[in-house]
Amino acid sequence: MPAAGLPSAGSLPRPTASQVVCRQVASAAELADHFTIRRQIFVDEQAIFAESDLDIHDHDMSAVALIGYCDGIAAGTVRLFALDPADGIWQGDRLAVLAPYRTRGLGAPLVRCAVATAAVLGGRLMSAHIQLANVRFFQRLGWETCGEREIYAGLVHQPMSIGLPPSREARATVRRLAAGVSARDL
Ligand SMILES: CC(C)(COP(=O)(O)OP(=O)(O)OC[C@H]1O[C@@H](n2cnc3c(N)ncnc32)[C@H](O)[C@@H]1OP(=O)(O)O)[C@@H](O)C(=O)NCCC(=O)NCCS
Repeated sequence: MPAAGLPSAGSLPRPTASQVVCRQVASAAELADHFTIRRQIFVDEQAIFAESDLDIHDHDMSAVALIGYCDGIAAGTVRLFALDPADGIWQGDRLAVLAPYRTRGLGAPLVRCAVATAAVLGGRLMSAHIQLANVRFFQRLGWETCGEREIYAGLVHQPMSIGLPPSREARATVRRLAAGVSARDL
């Protein structure tokens, strides 16, 4: 069941415009929405996880949870955490956009927001395990494949990575995405 205030994917209206906001969750309610969206995608839709996709990075709060809004509706997520803080290596995962909001310009800014946030936090490289159907999507955002395909969470994934932007540029990106952009501006 979706959290109070968060519509289920099946009942969501198709938006007629695409004003997008992406930023770190700012309240317990937003964190609950973030977890609910992840559950709808990774447990209910993709069945990658049987009951919950939460893991140690959520429980110990080492992950930075981001949320994406499309026309005011909480419709997407991504999270990031430091894999190797000393070497500035971060991982991004749990990228998800509710089905009715896909291809409307929310997924790409969520990825850009994760990349910029990791850079602001001192990272130099972000890596991710990418489902094969999304490799092209990430390539279009500047990511490169790195290494052989692997089994991750029971599915074949392609390791990919991207060098993180300079901190000043990253801060500007984080601010711009938090203020809200039109999908066409990206
Ligand atoms: C992958 C996902 C996050 C993309 O989100 P989205 O909101 O549809 O992405 P956007 O609308 O920002 O897409 C940006 C562009 O990439 C394209 N695109 C979207 N998904 C794509 C894919 N899988 N492969 C190639 N291109 C894709 C869009 O058509 C759009 O093209 P355009 O700029 O020419 O209009 C979304 O499909 C999703 O949540 N899928 C289910 C969960 C999942 O697979 N998570 C990722 C695990 S690795």
